[in-house]
Amino acid sequence: MPTYIAAIDQGTTSTRTMIFDHSGRVVAVDQREHEQIFPQAGWVEHDAEEIWANARATAAGALANADITAADVAAVGITNQRETTLVWDRKTGKPVYNAIVWQDTRTDRIVNELGALGGGQERYRQKTGLPLATYFSGPKIKWILDNVDGVRQRAEAGDLLFGNMDTWVLWNMTGGTDGGIHVTDPTNASRTMLMDLETLSWDEGIAADMGIPMSMLPEIRSSSEEYGKVRERGALGGVPIAGILGDQQAATFGQACLSPGEAKNTYGTGNFVLLNTGTEKVLSQNGLLTTVCYKIGTRDTVYALEGSIAVTGSLVQWLRDNLGLITSAAQIEEYARTVEDNGGAYFVPAFSGLFAPYWRSDARGAIVGLTRFVNKGHLARAVLEATAFQTREVIDAMNADSGVPLKTLKVDGGMVVNDLLMQFQADILGVSVIRPVVNETTALGAAYAAGLAVGFWAGEEDIRSNWAKDKQWDPAMDDIRREREYRNWKKAVTKTFDWVE
Ligand code: G3P
Repeated sequence: MPTYIAAIDQGTTSTRTMIFDHSGRVVAVDQREHEQIFPQAGWVEHDAEEIWANARATAAGALANADITAADVAAVGITNQRETTLVWDRKTGKPVYNAIVWQDTRTDRIVNELGALGGGQERYRQKTGLPLATYFSGPKIKWILDNVDGVRQRAEAGDLLFGNMDTWVLWNMTGGTDGGIHVTDPTNASRTMLMDLETLSWDEGIAADMGIPMSMLPEIRSSSEEYGKVRERGALGGVPIAGILGDQQAATFGQACLSPGEAKNTYGTGNFVLLNTGTEKVLSQNGLLTTVCYKIGTRDTVYALEGSIAVTGSLVQWLRDNLGLITSAAQIEEYARTVEDNGGAYFVPAFSGLFAPYWRSDARGAIVGLTRFVNKGHLARAVLEATAFQTREVIDAMNADSGVPLKTLKVDGGMVVNDLLMQFQADILGVSVIRPVVNETTALGAAYAAGLAVGFWAGEEDIRSNWAKDKQWDPAMDDIRREREYRNWKKAVTKTFDWVE
């Protein structure tokens, strides 16, 4: 009887394979980074073939690290950076263009043109739960069809396939040009701006608006069922692939936010707060997204409200890679600890415009409040605080939409090792912040989806009982200071508007 579940996590900066046991413990991991390609300001691309090579290599690596073989693995789940858009040839398996990453803002004009057809930014909200913004896949597909030579013709002839990274990895894992299956799940499909949130099917009218042939679109299945098996020559050869969840929904599942009113915040390249709203689809009045949280087999669809923040951890990366101001991410906390506060400086990292709750693609980053007093420590603080302030903005929106203030926030992701940030987060929210023992909630959530489908875990009770608290931060800042800081932040945000015509 196989005793493990594997999860492939195809993220924005790296691809990982993790092996979990029945208690949800991480048994082994292998991880590879891929290149971030910035062809011009506002553009971000990935080489999809590099990503697929990394997925294969890490699958083999994780099995080797765990000292097990495919026969020990009951199922594999896939989780992925969402929205990132790829078009490839079904006969050759070759991408027609690099993957256009979720952070990329090149579709700005397309998005404005679609809004001008009527309805503006709200044009597709009722059907898709999303505001018109550069973030989502549909307009990125349109950009590829409009701008890459010969591609529209090939798409119309039925030769091209679209997929987010879940679909690309799955298609290749199940054989690629040799019978690969072309499938996605509703959590990923709900980020394309092409799926009807009620029926979980592609909306032909929206696809027609964007000039996207229906033949390119993958079949939408549930998030937890057996889609196919890994082709025999793969590292996980013969293992059923039985779970797909977009990474933020996977983290929500892995955090056991399984009841309405439960929420998590993942601190990755960006931050993503998801609030489970149960089988009810709540349309936001306050700049949040309505999205599919998960759909387990034939059970009812569970929805979420989401606050998506484009730039948090990637701001720290930017300081390291573009400016060379720090040599490691950990150094930011070290510098921040040399001072008591931000010295009056606020850093609004509107590198991809601003996502929730503003949805302004015309915004660009700014550091404000500078005086000669400000030093490296203050800036380091401002960098960390930007993550916490942006989180407060989306939680405020969530409280307003749901009418029930959040009482605690479960957190996970790379930045939650940073004590100073977590304390400031609790302070600025005025609620407790809780980190679980297994911080790898994204991969774990995908493993759960796959494991539930093959009976490795019996049900959601197993997920709840595997979850355990590691650490909690309670608010310690007085109300006057909290609200003053937050007011300053809000003012700083307004300085980033209207930079792009
Ligand atoms: O929507 C984008 C999100 O899925 C990316 O997540 O963790 O790869 O930055 P991450």
